[in-house]
Amino acid sequence: MLSIKNLYKSYQYAGLRQNVLEGVDFEMDAASSIALLGESGSGKSTLLHLVAGLDRPDSGEILFAGHRVHAEPEAALAAMRRAQLSLVFQQFHLISTLSIIDNIRFQAALCQRLDARYEHELIERLGLGAQLDKYPSQLSRGQQQRVAIARSLLHKPQLVLADEPTGNLDEASSLEVMGLFSELVKRAGSSLLMVTHSKAMAAFMDRRVNLHNGRLAEIE
Ligand SMILES: Nc1ncnc2c1ncn2[C@@H]1O[C@H](COP(=O)(O)OP(=O)(O)O)[C@@H](O)[C@H]1O
Ligand SMILES: [Mg+2]
Repeated sequence: MLSIKNLYKSYQYAGLRQNVLEGVDFEMDAASSIALLGESGSGKSTLLHLVAGLDRPDSGEILFAGHRVHAEPEAALAAMRRAQLSLVFQQFHLISTLSIIDNIRFQAALCQRLDARYEHELIERLGLGAQLDKYPSQLSRGQQQRVAIARSLLHKPQLVLADEPTGNLDEASSLEVMGLFSELVKRAGSSLLMVTHSKAMAAFMDRRVNLHNGRLAEIE
């Protein structure tokens, strides 16, 4: 499903080169979940951006869902992101001018994968039934997070990339929602690669990997 081979990425900043990823190797199966751990600045977000084709590696390969992500033109990557990926960030990036239901449907509508039954199931499981005609600013942060989760799953992507998706919510309520999130991802048959600092959150995942000194290592 996702295969990363000998990936290198550096940034040039103020005339200095900083090596961030230095030979990352990584395989991820379909319908599996992985927690990506590592200290701040270790390159977790960089790795997610490269997988999504939002940035290019210096060298190495990223193979995902039949795409050569490291090499394909931007138009092919945009189509891949729309149909096969979800990105969930700490800031939920809901669209303020769209109602909650239109936010939930946004990506599924773009890739013509609306599914009324599945939509109903997500809304019920996430407890959003009474919020559908409201707008994002009228919801609490916790409710906004649930909307972001519903939106990330309705089109049944192969892979969900989540970068500290708790949005600074308190640990107890995030844990509850993240447990639900990983369960819904499984139900959708999708895979989940989630950056998190929480050991408890990481425990929900099938595997845990640590990014350190530019390389990824499995945590036993
Ligand atoms: N666009 C960029 N330009 C220059 N340096 C960057 C850029 N993005 C990230 N970095 C640097 O790369 C390192 C890894 O960043 P990041 O991937 O955001 O780490 P993490 O998500 O693990 O906290 C950091 O030292 C950061 O300052
Ligand atoms: Mg980060």
